[in-house]
Amino acid sequence: MLGVETSCDETAAAVVEDGRRILAQTVASQVTTHAQFGGVVPEVASRQHVRDITRVVERTLEDAGLTWDHLDGIAVTCGPGLLGALLVGISAAKGYALATGLPLVGVHHIAGHVAAAFLDADEATASTEGDPGPATAARPHGGLLEPPVLALVVSGGHTEILDVDEAFHFRRLGGTKDDAAGEAYDKVARMVGLSYPGGPKVDELAGQGDPQAFSFPRAMLEEGLDFSFSGLKSAVAGEVERQRRSGGLRVADVCASFQQAVVDVLVEKAARAMRETGRRTLVVAGGVAANRGLRAALAARAAADGFEVRFPPVRLCTDNAAMIAAAGCVLLARGRCDPLTLNAHAQLSLDAWQSGRV
Ligand code: KG4
Ligand code: ZN
Repeated sequence: MLGVETSCDETAAAVVEDGRRILAQTVASQVTTHAQFGGVVPEVASRQHVRDITRVVERTLEDAGLTWDHLDGIAVTCGPGLLGALLVGISAAKGYALATGLPLVGVHHIAGHVAAAFLDADEATASTEGDPGPATAARPHGGLLEPPVLALVVSGGHTEILDVDEAFHFRRLGGTKDDAAGEAYDKVARMVGLSYPGGPKVDELAGQGDPQAFSFPRAMLEEGLDFSFSGLKSAVAGEVERQRRSGGLRVADVCASFQQAVVDVLVEKAARAMRETGRRTLVVAGGVAANRGLRAALAARAAADGFEVRFPPVRLCTDNAAMIAAAGCVLLARGRCDPLTLNAHAQLSLDAWQSGRV
């Protein structure tokens, strides 16, 4: 399965065998281009995708030592994401599907993030262009994973708890009422003067600070499976302002205390969802799944509560095409493919995508 992902600022392609084995993958990152603007500029992203997409796909096939004849299908992210950016990947995938006659599978970006957990991480080889990004972490567990699982998806655009059944059908159990966890990380990073993308930098500094230094709010901790991070963000902004006025900003302590508040909430809600659904395995996916504090706290909670927690390796947590190809394999095996009229949807709910109501 060829996977193509262009929903934000990464032009990515991958070839995955049997939904498990990554034969090759390429991620052309635009992060240095957007860093000068302090965030992703949609039009700039679209234009860069147009420049990169053909080369990235061709290089990936070449790295895998394959030709189009070897493939069974083409999977592409169809939403949610930046509309112009999504359209570049979809147009390319449709062109390839038309030219080769291969089936086309439109993949919801979040379903892709979850499917990253099904990949055999030991096989992960990658060509990275532009920013090298974090190194691939060693797989902390053995054995391949299958649905059913519970998924905690934490990225720059999403914070959701999803139940994923045997048929790879998603049921949303809870999600954020305002900011996504990664968005809160990026905003706090900006407040304390760290450059975009700030999440990994806050994570790094949090390791050097005192998580008890400041008591930031943990919204909706005691009830339900929804999240809210905007109150936390405002509390951090107030504290940063107060410290700046009094002459010294304790950046590491602010980062550590903020991270502790986010991690406490994510861990508590994920553990509650595991209890309520009776699932045995929790998959943590999306860019924030790379967070060291979250990984340590969830591993400890899983051991205490008696469930298994799986984190894809760091490289597969952030946007990539192997996860899209992995989801495409599962979907195609279950008989799902899309016509060449497949379109991009900037806002795409899992329900609308699953039921084909788009
Ligand atoms: O999944 P992703 O690559 O893109 C989206 O679909 O959003 O996630 C990117 C997000 C950014 O907000 C980034 O700051 C955050 O994930 N992130 C982290 C870490 N690494 C990436 N947040 C906290 N700690 C990290 N180590
Ligand atoms: Zn993502």
